[in-house]
Formats: sequence, C-alpha cells, structure tokens
Amino acid sequence: MCVTIHMAASLDGFIARKDGRIDWLETSDDFAGGDTMDPDFVEAFLKTIDCYVMGSRTYETALGFEAKGLGWPYGDKPTFVLTHRDLPRPRSTVEFYSGDLAELVNGRLRPTFRNIWFVGGGAVSAECLRLGLADEVRYSIVPIVIGDGIPFFGKLDRDIALHLAEVKAYKSGMVDLRYEVRG
Ligand SMILES: NC(=O)c1ccc[n+]([C@@H]2O[C@H](COP(=O)([O-])OP(=O)(O)OC[C@H]3O[C@@H](n4cnc5c(N)ncnc54)[C@H](OP(=O)(O)O)[C@@H]3O)[C@@H](O)[C@H]2O)c1
Repeated sequence: MCVTIHMAASLDGFIARKDGRIDWLETSDDFAGGDTMDPDFVEAFLKTIDCYVMGSRTYETALGFEAKGLGWPYGDKPTFVLTHRDLPRPRSTVEFYSGDLAELVNGRLRPTFRNIWFVGGGAVSAECLRLGLADEVRYSIVPIVIGDGIPFFGKLDRDIALHLAEVKAYKSGMVDLRYEVRG
C-alpha cells in the first residue's frame, strides 16, 4: 500500500504560473540519451492507481480542460476532491471531502485502496506531507524555467527528509524522480 504525491514542475519548482496556467508543460526538447514513453506501459501503469486525491483548484483546472474537449485524465477511478465549496460534479466517481485530511487518508482510503495518488496542487501536496501521510513523492522535472508561479509544495513547517529511489530521463527532456519519504 502506498500514498504517492505526483506532479510535474518546472526546473525552478513551479507546478503552474501564478494565474494557474500550465501552457509551459509542453516543451520541444530532445535528449538523445533519454527513454521514450511507451504508451502501453503508461496505460498499464495507470491501471495500478486505485484512487486519486486533489485540491479544488486542481479539480477546477481538470474540469476546464474537459470542457475544452481534452478529456478527463482520471478515468473511472474514484477521485476525492478536497473543498469547502459546492462545486459541479458531472460524474459519480467524484466525491467531495472537507476537513481532516489524515482522517480521510488513514480512516477511509488506506483500508480500501492500495495505490492512492495525490495529484496536486501545491497546497494539498504540502498538507499531505505536513501531516506525514505520503510514502513517496514523484517529481517530474520539465526542461524549462518559468521564474514565478505556484510552488510544488506550499508552506511546510519543518524539513522532510527523502530517499532518492529512482531516476529516469526521457527523450522529451523530462526527468522523473521518485523519492521515498523517510522516517
Ligand atoms: N504541474 C502539475 O503537475 C499540476 C498538477 C496539479 C495541479 N496543477 C496546478 O496547480 C494549481 C492548483 O494548485 P493550488 O496549490 O493552487 O491548489 P490545490 O492544492 O489544487 O487546491 C487547494 C484547495 O483545496 C481545498 N482544500 C485543501 N485542503 C482541504 C481540506 N483539508 N478540506 C477541504 N478543502 C481543502 C481548498 O479549496 P476550497 O476553497 O474549495 O475549500 C484549497 O484552496 C492549478 O493551476 C493546477 O493547474 C499542476
């Protein structure tokens, strides 16, 4: 069983511009020594994820993309959206949650799901780490520097020690880092 935080960020550690735009995620780099992402592998890998957790602002971004015809990236997997607001719910796989994140993860998700994925944003990933709920952090570095934006981890109140467990570089110039949370 594993609770993972995964996002893509610029080299300077931002997951979105200040206004939420992620137009910079698509880059045109070419790293000769990198691996190619195999669509079959990606598809098989996504099947191993049992549920998703995200903040309301990430959810609203996903809804915006869907409205533009770009699809819903979380398939038919149960998706828990953290919010105090009354947001649109176009699919029954989405459930809203408000309150103690530790209670949601330890009391509800861990007993039910094996691979629990936090997919952002920065506020929620920080909350997850601060509460000691994450087992691993997967950090995909996009080959770009954007100067300012929403940080991968919002404010933390202490250092979080990590163990580097895996590094993979891709032809696209993206580098995937997998860290295990220590302690
Ligand atoms: N590059 C990437 O891989 C990536 C991935 C994900 C997101 N993003 C981007 O990141 C941005 C969003 O990140 P963000 O840090 O601004 O916001 P976020 O983490 O997506 O959402 C934060 C919101 O979640 C709600 N929330 C958090 N904890 C809660 C709790 N315990 N109970 C109830 N509600 C809770 C609150 O919303 P309410 O006000 O609704 O209560 C809070 O304002 C978007 O622009 C998105 O596109 C990028």
